[in-house]
Amino acid sequence: MPRDLYVIGNWKMYKTAREAAGYVEELEPKVQGCQAKIYLAVPYTSIASAARSAKNTPITIGAQNMNDAREGAFTGEIAALMLKEAGAEFVLLGHSERRKIFGESSEFVHKKTVRALQEGLQPIVCVGEDLEERESGRTEEVLKHQLEKSLSGIPAEDALKIILAYEPVWAIGTGKTATPKIAQEAHAFCRSCLADLFGKKVAGQISILYGGSVKPESAGPLAAQKDIDGVLVGGASLDPHTFAEIALNCEKPT
Ligand code: 13P
Repeated sequence: MPRDLYVIGNWKMYKTAREAAGYVEELEPKVQGCQAKIYLAVPYTSIASAARSAKNTPITIGAQNMNDAREGAFTGEIAALMLKEAGAEFVLLGHSERRKIFGESSEFVHKKTVRALQEGLQPIVCVGEDLEERESGRTEEVLKHQLEKSLSGIPAEDALKIILAYEPVWAIGTGKTATPKIAQEAHAFCRSCLADLFGKKVAGQISILYGGSVKPESAGPLAAQKDIDGVLVGGASLDPHTFAEIALNCEKPT
């Protein structure tokens, strides 16, 4: 069975609720008929307006983070249920900016993943090595560790609901996209780790996206790789024209 292809925009801390609604209206006609599923991970306060504009369109709205608790005394945090009610259908978990800037561990990412699955939000779990780790030949060790700690113990039928994103930290916001060959190698390795965790059949059904300085010209060659099932786009997703170009360039032979 072919895996689903995704093009996901991660707006990070950009775009107000009003801007989000306008963006979705502008994007929608441009991505009609494109092969990939189009997801947008927007700021919390923009979820409701983006979801309203995306209603009855092929665009799916989600969040960029959440807390692992169902509810509670956690000032400034947000729960899966709140995101769902606002209109989110998925959530990014363990983005490298969360891990590096806010000190999130893979153990925390694991708890969040379990909670998201429980509440019916599709988790998009992010992993990736930094420059020092790559240059010291530790890429596979780091990926394996992050994957094991973030996903072990999750039942295989739940694992099928997860999307994985490989985002090398050295490629994020630097303009240095991984070559299709480097990305494919890392994706194949991530898939072998998923096979160790969930069995080969399940691992073969989980979509793995590449993220890190994706541009319209790099999206096609990346998405054409055997183990790359789409892209997670930061900076280049902020402009609907550029993001639509990326979406249209991502295709798999049918
Ligand atoms: P850039 O596309 O800006 O490098 O960001 C990638 C990213 O972090 C997506 O989650």
